[in-house]
Amino acid sequence: MPGPGRSSRHLPADWQAAIQPPYDRSVTTPRRIAVLGSTGSIGRQALDVITHSGGQFQAVALAGGTNTALLAEQVTLHRPRYVHAPAPCAELSQAVARSGARFALPEEVAAAPDVDVVLIATAGAAGLLPTLAALRAGKPVAIANKEVLVMAGHLVRRAMREGGGELRPVDSEHSAIWQCLWGEAPGSVRRVILTASGGAFRDLSIAELASVTPEQALDHPTWKMGRKITVDSATLMNKGMETIEAMWLFDVPMSAVEVVLHRESIVHSLVEFSDGSVKAQLGVPDMRLPIQLALSYPQRMPEPAVPLLELAAVGSLHFAPPDTGRFPCLRLAMEAGQAGGTVPAAMAAADEVAVERFLRREIGFLDIPRIIERVLERHQPIPDPSLEEVLAADAEARRLAAAVPAGVSA
Ligand SMILES: NC(=O)c1ccc[n+]([C@@H]2O[C@H](COP(=O)([O-])OP(=O)(O)OC[C@H]3O[C@@H](n4cnc5c(N)ncnc54)[C@H](OP(=O)(O)O)[C@@H]3O)[C@@H](O)[C@H]2O)c1
Repeated sequence: MPGPGRSSRHLPADWQAAIQPPYDRSVTTPRRIAVLGSTGSIGRQALDVITHSGGQFQAVALAGGTNTALLAEQVTLHRPRYVHAPAPCAELSQAVARSGARFALPEEVAAAPDVDVVLIATAGAAGLLPTLAALRAGKPVAIANKEVLVMAGHLVRRAMREGGGELRPVDSEHSAIWQCLWGEAPGSVRRVILTASGGAFRDLSIAELASVTPEQALDHPTWKMGRKITVDSATLMNKGMETIEAMWLFDVPMSAVEVVLHRESIVHSLVEFSDGSVKAQLGVPDMRLPIQLALSYPQRMPEPAVPLLELAAVGSLHFAPPDTGRFPCLRLAMEAGQAGGTVPAAMAAADEVAVERFLRREIGFLDIPRIIERVLERHQPIPDPSLEEVLAADAEARRLAAAVPAGVSA
């Protein structure tokens, strides 16, 4: 295998920016981290990693959404410099004043000179502007928020090229692929293979899927995550979005991205190379591992953040092809990724609305792909869209998705 120095000479500039950036930034200790989406599942786990980093990391900016009481607690504990919430409560304002912090917009925080790494852990479209701002400011961005890449992967890569920033995957599958690619030349990649647990309903028939409840959808077999992504895991939309995320992160065509079901969530993903050799990355299913790596890169932390993997205790690992008949969202997402332009943004927005409607019990589980399909049939795609066109496609798809009645046939 060629060493990193040799292989990097063969990498196109674009690829190098995404995979093996020159890490010559003034690496401070502690490394100053902005946690955008700190009140969510990824954000809380990131703060846990920071707390247990032995002083390697410091949370210098925290941003949340509606859970301002939790954000106030986090501010009191971590004493950041910057805080953001769309509508701060009195408790949060007091915590900010007491800790000497100040309110600042996420885009401002993302570009602030005293922030070393920006973790985008918000859900949905809220992560887009801070991601672009951080990359334009030349920052490393640890990206958990896949919707940003699904909506506007081309704009993210453009911002990265213009500003010299870099993307570090946080999603466990993409972190696995990232690690498999270290030291490899891009021309040697034949396929990237994403593993999927299959979600809460992997063993149910279509008839059974028709009557599943939000509570059942939120009970994921291996991962504990936010509500939206847990439902997306049950429909396989999460995996579909991850195929688009992989295209943008690793600059591979959709034809080179595949999905395999792997119920144990131990093999996080694989890369097949030109000579038929396959590399995989394994670990216990615990998001603190990829979060920590995205913050510590290019170093690995000296101690594990999670329990060690004992393969003998796991016993056997299983793999199977996904069933796009029962789970059409995977097919819809891969087709949207292939189509490009505004189609993935419209798909992601329609999915967000459909999932919210399912969680509110307005529609059934099988209505989620039907609504997305209905919205995409009406969408007028725009190739190479501007930010404004992406946001307009998002808004239009949301409006359409909210209006499609329950029980519509695809
Ligand atoms: N959870 C996982 O294990 C996992 C794994 C891989 C990738 N991801 C991806 O990571 C992202 C976050 O997932 P999650 O599970 O952590 O979601 P989550 O638990 O729902 O957390 C989302 C975070 O974003 C904030 N937020 C939501 N809408 C906002 C808005 N309009 N403005 C500002 N902040 C807003 C939330 O604030 P409040 O809660 O205060 O409202 C919360 O802090 C998603 O894109 C997901 O696909 C998650």
